[in-house]
Amino acid sequence: MLCSAVITFLIILAIFSQFIDALDLSGFRTSLDILEDARLDTFSLIKKYGYPCEIHRVVTEDEYVLEMHRVPHGRNNSEAEPRGVVFLLHGLLSSSAEWVLMTPGKGLAYGLADAGYDVWMGNARGNTYSRNHVSLNPSSTAFWKFSWHEIGYYDVPAMIDYVLNETGVPKIQYIGFSQGTTAFWVMMSTRPEYNEKIVAMQAMAPVAYFGNARSPLIKAIAPFTNSLETISKILGVTEILPNGLINDLAGQKLCIEEAITQVLCTNLLFLICGFDAEQLNTTMLPVVLGHTPAGASAKQFIHYGQLYKSGKFVQFDYGLIGNKRRYGTYKPPSYDLTAVKTPVFLHYAENDWLSTPKDVKKLAEAMPAAVGIYRVPLPTFNHLDFVFAINATELIYNRLIKIMSQFN
Ligand SMILES: *[C@@H]1O[C@H](CO)[C@@H](O)[C@H](O)[C@H]1NC(C)=O
Ligand SMILES: *[C@@H]1O[C@H](CO)[C@@H](O)[C@H](O)[C@H]1NC(C)=O
Ligand SMILES: *[C@@H]1O[C@H](CO)[C@@H](O)[C@H](O)[C@H]1NC(C)=O
Repeated sequence: MLCSAVITFLIILAIFSQFIDALDLSGFRTSLDILEDARLDTFSLIKKYGYPCEIHRVVTEDEYVLEMHRVPHGRNNSEAEPRGVVFLLHGLLSSSAEWVLMTPGKGLAYGLADAGYDVWMGNARGNTYSRNHVSLNPSSTAFWKFSWHEIGYYDVPAMIDYVLNETGVPKIQYIGFSQGTTAFWVMMSTRPEYNEKIVAMQAMAPVAYFGNARSPLIKAIAPFTNSLETISKILGVTEILPNGLINDLAGQKLCIEEAITQVLCTNLLFLICGFDAEQLNTTMLPVVLGHTPAGASAKQFIHYGQLYKSGKFVQFDYGLIGNKRRYGTYKPPSYDLTAVKTPVFLHYAENDWLSTPKDVKKLAEAMPAAVGIYRVPLPTFNHLDFVFAINATELIYNRLIKIMSQFN
């Protein structure tokens, strides 16, 4: 069902693209700028808007090669000034681009750099920037045998150690969005020594418990979670929605302001994340879709599907025999949320279909380290608004930066 929906969508896009190609776009200056931003990588985007940027590569214990992007300081402060260090981790199917693609004044990474932070943006294994391994090829199925469990267990600790070593500070701040928070809970429950390395954690749209998700797309996928795994095994499909698939089609001419097809792009996002026409800047859609989806493994989706069905926050379920072999128990072990000791601030929104108020409340109750819980003061605010909303700065980032300043 889902597959046919996606295929239908792609066919419609393909048909419309015939018409769009016939349009002469040279008259639209903004459109050209937007189309350029849709294609530039994170590093070039940051440079284009006048901020310093560095690329760093980190090799994990299990030999994935991850690319990090650093904005060492803002436009009006310098390297020489003492400054706090902050690590950012993106959501599912996304990359470091999500913190900058809305341009200065809107993107959180720019706001943090201008507030005096040394900003490090991680990229989880499998996305546009982290499709490398010392010996495995991303075209092999072996490369894609990971969920967000491995991102939390291997990637995040490796990137944090790298940042600590590079900057020489004893502790850093952490900001996660969606899956970027899930990976944090995984890290802290499996490697509690990392509590010593993080001074405070800001969780935007936190996801641990997932049983109350109400996205139509999740509901459509969930019943097939088990067969999805079988299907991907048979077909050898292990990567889902890599950058460049929908992006080339939708992320460019199809979603610009002048295109009649823009409504398709808008609805695709709303279908997954909740409706909020007010906070979505449709002019920026090509840029958003030029960078998202950025690739993920099928296993990441299946693992979230399992959480949705069980209502529990547990490790990957391999079935009775697989679990016994791997964990020594018939059921997958729970992640221990009481192992999180770093002060955590949860930021959630009423209209978020993935990180729902109910599940966030459940998380706050299960995790004593949750010392603050904040609702975004706009009822229509949805999941993606945390990174893309027109008013994200006023509605959430200013408060976040204020909370963080108490820990410097
Ligand atoms: C730590 O940083 C130093 C100097 O930048 C470098 O030589 C060393 O390899 C780094 N160690 C790790 C574990 O990254
Ligand atoms: C939407 O994005 C365009 C292009 O970046 C920008 O010019 C415009 O001001 C934005 N609109 C709002 C309401 O922020
Ligand atoms: C969003 O920002 C615009 C100006 O940038 C302002 O006019 C509007 O009131 C803001 N909306 C909210 C909900 O804060």
